This record gives sequence, C-alpha cells and structure tokens, in this order.
Amino acid sequence: MSTVSAVEIRGLTKRFGDVAAVDAVTLDIRAGEFFSLLGPSGCGKTTLLRMIGGFELPTAGSIRIHGEDVTRTAPYGRPVNMVFQHYALFPHLSVGENVAFGMRYHGVPRGDEPRRVAAALALVQLTGYESRRPDQLSGGQRQRVALARALALEPEVLLLDEPLGALDQKLRKEVQVQLKQLQRSLGITFVFVTHDQEEALTMSDRIAVMNRGRVEQLDEAARVFERPATEFVATFMGASNFFDVFVRGGDAASVSIELPGGAAARLPREGREWNAGERLRFVVRPEKLDLRTHDLSTRGVPSVPVTVEDRVYQGVGTVWLVRGPGGEAFSVYEQNERPDEGARFAAGARAFLCFRTRDAILLSTAGDR
Ligand SMILES: Nc1ncnc2c1ncn2[C@@H]1O[C@H](COP(=O)(O)OP(=O)(O)OP(=O)(O)O)[C@@H](O)[C@H]1O
Ligand SMILES: [Mg+2]
Repeated sequence: MSTVSAVEIRGLTKRFGDVAAVDAVTLDIRAGEFFSLLGPSGCGKTTLLRMIGGFELPTAGSIRIHGEDVTRTAPYGRPVNMVFQHYALFPHLSVGENVAFGMRYHGVPRGDEPRRVAAALALVQLTGYESRRPDQLSGGQRQRVALARALALEPEVLLLDEPLGALDQKLRKEVQVQLKQLQRSLGITFVFVTHDQEEALTMSDRIAVMNRGRVEQLDEAARVFERPATEFVATFMGASNFFDVFVRGGDAASVSIELPGGAAARLPREGREWNAGERLRFVVRPEKLDLRTHDLSTRGVPSVPVTVEDRVYQGVGTVWLVRGPGGEAFSVYEQNERPDEGARFAAGARAFLCFRTRDAILLSTAGDR
C-alpha cells in the first residue's frame, strides 16, 4: 500500500431539499488500501459512495481519482466500478453471462472472458453455477454474482455498498476473509460501505466513521476501536460505559480525578491540557471492566461502588448490568470460563467496578469540536 491518493474528496456536500445527506466531507483514500465507510442507517454512506462512482452529482465540493478531477464526469468515464446495495442482475441472462456482461464495453478481449468469469465465480464460491438463471438462486447467491461481475472487470477502484448484507453469518465471515485476501493480491483500492463495526474492523486498513453526513473519525481500524475520539464513535464501536468526572489537578504525565463514589484516580494525560475544575469524560469497554466484591482503591486500582441490577447470560459470556452511586448505568462483560453454576452476584448486591487506568479512553468534550 502506498501513500499515493486514489481518491481525493474535498468539501463534498449533497443536499436533498433540507437534508444534507453528505455534509462538507474532506478525505483521502490511498491507492491499494481497503477503506471503509462505517456508520448507522441514514448517515450518508451510500450517497458518498454514489458521488465517487458518478451516480450522484454533488451540490458542492470536488472529487479527484488518481489526480484527475472527475467531479462532473459520467460513471463510465471513471476508473471505478460499483457493487450496489440493491444489486440488479439481468433476469434473462445466465450467471456466467451476467458476470461477463460489461466486459466487452470495458475492452476485455473476448478470448479472456471465460477465464475471467471462471476466476470471478470461484472467488465467490459459485463455480458450477454458470448456466443457472438469477431466479434459480438464493438472495445471498445473487449478491455474490453481483460481486463477481464487479470483480471480473478488475477496476482500479472498487466501490462496494454493503455487498455482504444478504449473506448468512457463516458465509459472510468466509467471504469477508476471501474478499480481503483478494483485495491484497489484486492491489485494487476498495471503498467498502458497511454499518457493521465488526465487519469494518475485520476487513479495513482504515475506517471513516460517519454520523449525520459528516466524518467523525478517520483512523487505522484498530485505532478507531481502541481510541475512539468522540462519544458517538465510542458508542458505535460498542464502548458503552461513560464516566463524567471533574479534574482535580495533575502533573506532566497524568491528571487526577475523583471517581463516582469519591475515590481518587490518575489517568494518563495523553498530551492534552487539563485544568483543575474542568469536566472530563472517559469511557471503558464492557470487557475491560471487572466486577469485584471488594474495593481495590487502596491498592491503586480505580474502583466505583455499584449495585448489581441484572445479569444476561450470553453463552460465551455474561453481561452484568449495574448502577453507580449517581444512578449511572454500566455494563460489564465477563467471559464464561466454567459451566454456568448460577450468579456470582444476586440482584441488589453491592459490588465494585474496577478497571486499569490504561483502559480508560478520554473523549473530546463538546467544547473541543
Ligand atoms: N434520492 C434521495 N432523495 C431524498 N433524500 C435522500 C435521497 N437519497 C438519500 N436521501 C437521504 O439522505 C440521507 C443519507 O442517505 P444514504 O442512503 O446515503 O444513507 P446510508 O448511510 O447509506 O444508510 P443505509 O445504511 O440505511 O443504507 C438519508 O437521510 C436519506 O433519507
Ligand atoms: Mg446505504
């Protein structure tokens, strides 16, 4: 993967009436990278992708692909191909013909067609389905044919709008791994849309997390997960335990705070200025919290007194729902290591929420943004 930009997006906006579906987005997608647009339904992922593909004209802003301004270029004039969220196959053509369709318009030599069709179908595990018609396939199989059709053209940039949405969980996981390997081996730039955080983490080099038409965070996949920058990103990535505290003071390396319940703790400063009296918000992932019978503050482990409310058995793990001294709701995820022998804590039990300071993720407060 190089640092050359495959796609450069500057101030890109799309309005539908009063709605800014995409709102002044600026970002660069590197050549050869697996780039994901991640966010909840309606945040503007499809609209942004369609503008890159040329299927939607921007209200404002510009798009360059490999250095060339394509903002107003028709879709077929761009070195991209798109797999649509609602894919369409030609019902009267066979699977093989569907995959081959488009090759002659893209200058693929006729003699090369069968090899490319076979290779693309093998990638999506549909070898042997060449002569079937779309109405003889399941929804997931049709989606894979649409994917094969786009891959067969070997575009420089492939735009994929939730291409695995119709696949069941097991097949989806398999195709995720294969698609990622394929992208690596072909060196094609992938721009992949999904609302599934796990899928984005599994496949992407970098992820842009979108919220209401804007990019909230653009980072390496692991960083988006481990160091979400805002409350929205943290919540979307499954980190659900928020702590609101006041800064008491600190030194060059750390800030000291008072936890709910009154215990003191020191958090790494992370290169930020914090003043005494300021409000600070941090988040801890459910699997990084520990539910204990005893207060560990005296041993230097941040501890918050809580009341156990409920427990949810999930097979591989258990989620404890607890409340802090100010009525704050927290959830603790615990791996189930032994057969379920009943609850460690009864509803209403007093317990302590403990965590390591390095697992506390400091968030930007509203004033920072
Ligand atoms: N053609 C259109 N006319 C009017 N509004 C539109 C149009 N297309 C999209 N929108 C609106 O723009 C916003 C973004 O839509 P978009 O389809 O880009 O979201 P998305 O992130 O792809 O969502 P999903 O995950 O549900 O596919 C939504 O509020 C949607 O209702
Ligand atoms: Mg969409």
